[in-house]
Amino acid sequence: MCGIVAYIGKKQVGSLLLEGLKRLEYRGYDSSGICIGSADGFFIRKAVGRISVLEAVLDEEHSVPHGHVGMAHTRWATHGAPTECNAHPHTDDQGRIALVHNGIIENYTAIKQFLQEKGHTFNSQTDTEVLAVLIGHFYQGNLLKAVQAALHEVRGTYGMAVMASDEPDHLVVARRGSPLIIGVGKDEYIVASDAAAIVEHTTQVVYLNDNEMALLTPKSFSTTTIDDVPVSKQIKEVEFSLQQIELGGYPHFMLKEIFEQPEAMANCLRGRVDKNEGRVVLGGISQLSRDVVRARRIIITACGTAWHAGLVGEFLLEELAKIPTEVEYASEFRYRNPIIEDGTIVLAISQSGETADTLAALREAKDRGAMSLGIVNVVGSTIARETDAGIYLHVGPEIGVASTKAFCGQIVVETLLALSIARRKYMSQTVLDQFLAALEKIPGQMRRVLDQSDQIREVTTQYCHRENWLFLGRGFNYPVALEGALKLKEISYIHAEGLPAAEMKHGPIALINPGMPVVFIATRGTQYEKLLGNIQEVKARSGRVIAVASEGDEHIRSVADHVFTVPDTIEPLQPLLTVLPLQLLAYHAAVARGCNVDKPRNLAKSVTVE
Ligand code: G6P
Repeated sequence: MCGIVAYIGKKQVGSLLLEGLKRLEYRGYDSSGICIGSADGFFIRKAVGRISVLEAVLDEEHSVPHGHVGMAHTRWATHGAPTECNAHPHTDDQGRIALVHNGIIENYTAIKQFLQEKGHTFNSQTDTEVLAVLIGHFYQGNLLKAVQAALHEVRGTYGMAVMASDEPDHLVVARRGSPLIIGVGKDEYIVASDAAAIVEHTTQVVYLNDNEMALLTPKSFSTTTIDDVPVSKQIKEVEFSLQQIELGGYPHFMLKEIFEQPEAMANCLRGRVDKNEGRVVLGGISQLSRDVVRARRIIITACGTAWHAGLVGEFLLEELAKIPTEVEYASEFRYRNPIIEDGTIVLAISQSGETADTLAALREAKDRGAMSLGIVNVVGSTIARETDAGIYLHVGPEIGVASTKAFCGQIVVETLLALSIARRKYMSQTVLDQFLAALEKIPGQMRRVLDQSDQIREVTTQYCHRENWLFLGRGFNYPVALEGALKLKEISYIHAEGLPAAEMKHGPIALINPGMPVVFIATRGTQYEKLLGNIQEVKARSGRVIAVASEGDEHIRSVADHVFTVPDTIEPLQPLLTVLPLQLLAYHAAVARGCNVDKPRNLAKSVTVE
């Protein structure tokens, strides 16, 4: 995700800021930029790609100013492609204000229109440039006041640093919903969105809270609210190592990413649900929305976890959008001489956007005339670039090899896609509103499921020596059963099979022996009674039943050996909750067996070879 580093003090800022950006690299980004303040105004350089590209740009310059105030940014594109023009810092149209910003300005379209009517002009597609121009619009020689005035007009989130060319000894920073930390050194301050960029300079920090801002000079800092009410802040000591900071206090990235899901889903939904109008807004496919609504067939292609999310997508698109949909393993699809008729859309799903099989399947489909869409997490990745249009997950970088938050992000995006088509075809506003309300509740409901982590660990520890497991579910929870089994295989090296529950009697039931763990996803829904029957079949053979069930379902406790609960939601959204206990189960099993959770043997995060 985006990163900010800013500095004011006695050191030369150029190399200091670049080092700071490198500390934030682990968060993921697609472009970067730097602004150094000097007597001649701002020196701004930007580059697409790695920080080393920006470094090379600066190396080639003969006149990088030796300024003592500056700021730098790594951008993970949200509004607009990852281009040099869209990279931060952004300036106002007079070139007097420079801004780096994390977060999203939700009402930027309305503000942009207002500013255009006042004669202001814009170069980029970003929400951040709109904020820079707005600050410039209010600027009358006092940067702090101009920032305060602008922040009163914006809705959304920000962690930001701002400079004014007329005030070379001032740096203004502000925060709402996006972290910002001020490192306090001797006659110097280093501000960053993440302590990782600060700790090598100082361990003395001030944490800004939401709606707080600070004015920094080389020798002092003062903090206020954005309403200009003074706030006195305590200087605290950071006690973490760099590695711990990157892990945010979690022992593994996988666990961190599992626990990040509530926030990641909120980010994925942000700006895509217009609550006032009860609409789904998918900017990435808006230009092709007519073709999407008229699609006669959708072929989803993906690998691994993304394929499982694709299977949920098939159910969502057929049930909600009523478009015949099939999901194909990319590795099979590419060699199968696929039939692509008029009106076929190929939808490639990939966390990394680089998986070789998915990319090849996409190219094959395009060669045969299909329109292509992507659901991708990594901005600017090859699949994102090669699809005709797409929707990013915005769940942040996924570092653990076993995919977790990307799976849920993929399902959220598929749901939004299905709903936006459905509403334009036949779905009533009332039903759409019910879905949007249910989606809004998902992050909070996810937290309730994650709260059971300790209980899941205890149960898992009892069974983690068993080498064969079954995962069974029906309907929307059948793909979740597949995903639960895959997670367990990937990181704990336990053999596990995922199946539609009714298929058990056609073969796998022969595997069940006394004590074998069988995980049922048995939430209340259309096939609940049938699942209870399947549970009895396992019990009759002395298998041990671990059930993921609905909160308040007392009956299941009398038939299952162990129960993890999920809150009620609309049936098509259940996978977003039912997959969480299974992710935790796999995680705790792997830890109990002493496996390398984040880098399991033989696996790669992104498989770029066939
Ligand atoms: C690898 C990873 C899986 C992932 C799959 C597809 O096999 O280990 O976790 O699901 O690739 O990756 P993608 O980046 O295309 O979603």
